[in-house]
Amino acid sequence: MSAELILGKDVSEEIYAELRQRIEALKAAGTLPGLAVVLVGDDPASHVYVRKKGEMCESLGMRSKTIIMPESTTQSELLSVIADLNADPEIHGFLVQLPLPPHIDEKAVINAVAPEKDVDCFHPYNVGRMLAGDPGFLPATPAGVQQMLVRSGVETAGKHVVVVGRSNIVGKPMAAMMMQKGPGADSTVTVVHSRTANLPEITRQADILVVAIGKPRFVTADMVKDGAVVIDVGTNRIDDPTHPKGSRLVGDVDFDAVKEKASRITPVPGGVGPMTICMLMANTVRAAERSAGVSQ
Ligand code: GUN
Repeated sequence: MSAELILGKDVSEEIYAELRQRIEALKAAGTLPGLAVVLVGDDPASHVYVRKKGEMCESLGMRSKTIIMPESTTQSELLSVIADLNADPEIHGFLVQLPLPPHIDEKAVINAVAPEKDVDCFHPYNVGRMLAGDPGFLPATPAGVQQMLVRSGVETAGKHVVVVGRSNIVGKPMAAMMMQKGPGADSTVTVVHSRTANLPEITRQADILVVAIGKPRFVTADMVKDGAVVIDVGTNRIDDPTHPKGSRLVGDVDFDAVKEKASRITPVPGGVGPMTICMLMANTVRAAERSAGVSQ
């Protein structure tokens, strides 16, 4: 039997409807939530992501500011833009799009963002708060995965979640969030990665398998238990001469084979993808609510 699809478009629409109400309440109380996005250089995928973030912000009726800087920007020029955004009362949250050109120290940039405006949840202060289970920002992609599970009625308490991949952006925070106490969590978590011995033996034990390893169609059907819930965070562009563009997007999961074994699965594209921007918008509304004194 083919798995039921969990679609980011459906889940994000539900969250956007809630956010619109919170934005209206903020505006009525005199606060227009504002998000700024800083992009350095010419990476084509980053330009697409940044444009989409700006468009979503505007479609929700929030203030949007996009700052595009040339590849030759120095670290001190970028730090000066960050200092201005930290001090700008009209901007409640902002992020610097990654990757940065190699001459800029990514950690120095992340550390320069004021924690109360760090809607990516990349600053060590916010990473620490997330790990401690304190209320605050959550990193957008893992938070989006958690919302997909919760809002499609997947039980997580007591379940074995196996996270494939250990990145700072997805794998590590995903594991930390699923082991917290509370709704959408309370799971038993295992993390596997490129150096794990007997990886398929472990993934086969997963009730919920979250895959973020950045390798096209890495998870095959023999690595998945019958009836597992499979969440594919990967987006990989592969050559495909039968496609008009000569290439197409695939996830980290061999979708066609795994959908015959899983009970629920997220496709690529259309699965987790739309959730990342949605949770970024949710963090921005949260930042504005905090600044207006209506949220922790
Ligand atoms: N590049 C890819 N994903 C992200 C993200 O979530 N935030 C930032 N700042 N850059 C990214």
